[in-house]
Parts: sequence; structure tokens; C-alpha cells
Amino acid sequence: MIATACPSSPHPLPGPGAGPRLPWAGTTIFTVMSTLAARHGAINLGQGFPDFDCDPGLQQRVAEAMQAGHNQYAPMPGVPALREAIAVKVAALYGRAYDPESEITVTAGATQAIMAAVFALAGPGDEVIVLEPAYDCYLPAIELAGATAVRIPLDAARGYAVDWDRVRAAIGPRTRLLMLNFPHNPTGAVLDAADLQALEALLEGTGVVVLSDEVYEHIVFDGAAHASVSRSPALSARSVVVSSFGKTFHATGWKVGWCCAPAPLTAQLRRVHQFMVFAVSTPVQHGLAAWLGDPTPYRFLPAFYQAKRDRFVDGLSASRFRALPARGTYFVLADYSALSDLPEQAFARWLIEHHGVAAIPVSAFYREPVDRRVVRFCFAKQDSTLDAALARLQAA
Ligand SMILES: Cc1ncc(COP(=O)(O)O)c(C=O)c1O
Repeated sequence: MIATACPSSPHPLPGPGAGPRLPWAGTTIFTVMSTLAARHGAINLGQGFPDFDCDPGLQQRVAEAMQAGHNQYAPMPGVPALREAIAVKVAALYGRAYDPESEITVTAGATQAIMAAVFALAGPGDEVIVLEPAYDCYLPAIELAGATAVRIPLDAARGYAVDWDRVRAAIGPRTRLLMLNFPHNPTGAVLDAADLQALEALLEGTGVVVLSDEVYEHIVFDGAAHASVSRSPALSARSVVVSSFGKTFHATGWKVGWCCAPAPLTAQLRRVHQFMVFAVSTPVQHGLAAWLGDPTPYRFLPAFYQAKRDRFVDGLSASRFRALPARGTYFVLADYSALSDLPEQAFARWLIEHHGVAAIPVSAFYREPVDRRVVRFCFAKQDSTLDAALARLQAA
């Protein structure tokens, strides 16, 4: 979160006794940078969304669902055909057979799945472990639930790897949830089989539930396989695994995601989900169910994004930015210390204003900003957009 204060109203509404919620939170950094980028006509490599459209075949499936009259409320846990299609996909990829009836819930994007899971599973007196840098909704979810966040930094010197010893040391009698996000936004770090084993070992004998945000599950590079926690029977038995169609099908604006969890955890999560949104867009769910039958779109995703990563990283090598290793997601971090010694937020503004390219300061993913002179670029863009941005970055 950026430290911009919300404008205060001249006529403040009477608030609850505890005062306003999330008093530290201003407008998210993504909105701030996108607004600034629009104002300056900058190329927006800040916010994480593609500048190309989703497949016309998928759009056609959604249109057909609307025309077939699928326009009223969906069942609360999701359209059965979509939950079945998700079950088939997850079993084929990771070998865990979730029961669509009692273990899969369709949500309003991954964001709402995360909110519902945190609200359902953590409350006052509970601790939730979060790895930083962290996606921006994690800490607000924990705070709104009344729980306490225990923040552990990823090891920047080791490619933002997880220090499992630090995680083990942070687990105590109050630890309720461990939030993970791999492939990782913003760093592009991924887990491997050894990480899953380490995680399995350190959680053995604890009551800790893993909330694993795997929205970039299909964007893993260099031939690696995504290390989903659902691959491990021991971990999947204690995990809520969240994903999103937005990232996989270039349709971030549809805000449809899902979560898989053992039946007792799903039952708790649905108690919250039903009052948060009740149900998610019916025609989009039907369209996605029809589309998911063909695995081609997501099988082809790693090569599609790897080519973009390589194009962008190659281009950056002719600039004063230094790209850090990006093993997954559609983000790459770049060190700009050879170019400027401005702090990250000031640098990101300067880059928009003077060179017409928007990026996100990595410090925004920390509760107490850590300034390493690193910004995040999103390469989910047409090649022509990337080339135009690179020309500007090379001139900086
Ligand atoms: C790590 C991570 N989790 C969750 C989300 C939110 O996903 P959705 O748009 O499906 O709510 C994002 C979106 O950028 C993300 O990067």
C-alpha cells in the first residue's frame, strides 16, 4: 500500500467505537500508478493485467451462456459444471481429487477467496504468518478479521527464497494460518519439490492451515513444474488452495476464481462466502466450464509468457536497469541503482513523468517499506507495447 492518506471529509460520518477500519490504507499503489500513467500518457507496465484480449472462443462460450438464459443467481458454491471441470483439471495436473460438491467453491476472483478464507479461519487472538513482499490484500484481510499478522521477509539475497527456519521459528500456539503465494507476485520466485517437503515437515504436528494463493499456477518458466501444495497429500489435507481464471485466460476483469479445500475447511469458508457475495456471475461460470474442457489454453501459457519475459529481459540488458531472475508470473523485478538513487516510490513517479513508463515500487508490498532500489514491471503486454517501453527504458 502506498502511504497516501485518504482525503478527509469535512463532515465525518460517525464511526464505530473502534474508529475507521484500515486507517493506514490509502488508495492502492496499482490505482495510484495507473492514474498517474494515464495522466502522463505513459506505457503502463505497472498494474498486472494484459493489454491483449482473451480468446474469442471463450467470449463466445460466455455469450452463448447468456443467450441460453443463464442469467440468474448461480448456486452459492458455484455452477456444478464449473466445479466439476476444476476438479478434473486439478486432479490431472496435481493428482489431488477434490470433491466438487464439498471441496470446491467458485469465488469473485482470488481476492474474495482470500478474504473469505481469512475471515472464516482467523479471528481475534489468532496469528497469521505472511511472507513479505506480499500481495496487497493479505494484510488488510488479516486486520479486518481481527487477527495479527506475523511478517517474515523472503530472502532477497537468495532470489527471494523462503527461509523455512524463520517460518518454523514464527509458528506458535496462536498460529492459525500460513499464507503463501507461489509463483510469487511481485518477485517471480517459485517453490520446488524440496520446498514442499520442508513445509510438510515443519507443519507436522501443528494445527496450522495453509492458505496458498496460486493464481499464477500456469505461468512457470524454464521447464519447471508448478509446486502446488495440492500435490502433497499431507499439505492438501490442511490447505485452502486459491486460483483465478483472470490470470490464466487473460480475463482479469471477469473476477472469477476458486478455492479447493478439504470439506471441513470448505464448510467454514462457505459460511462466510455466502454472505460476502453469495454467488458469482452465472454466464461467465458456464462459459468457463465449457472452455475448461480443452486444456490447450493453459498448456500453452508458460511458453507464451516465457517468450515475453525473454524479450523484455533481453531488452532491459541494453538499459541501465538490471533484471532479477524471474521464474514465474508475468512480472520481473529490475534494480535501477545504476540509474538513480531515488527511493522506489519517487523513482516510479519520476519514471512515469520523465520517461513515460509506469512500474510498481517493490516497497509497496511491504508494511514497513524496505527500499532496495527495485521496481516491478509487468510483461503481460503485446510485443509492440514491450518494445515501445523498452525503447524508453533504454534511453533512461
Ligand atoms: C498474488 C495475487 N493474488 C490474488 C490476485 C487477485 O486475483 P483476482 O483478480 O482473481 O481477484 C492477484 C492479482 O493481481 C495476485 O497477483
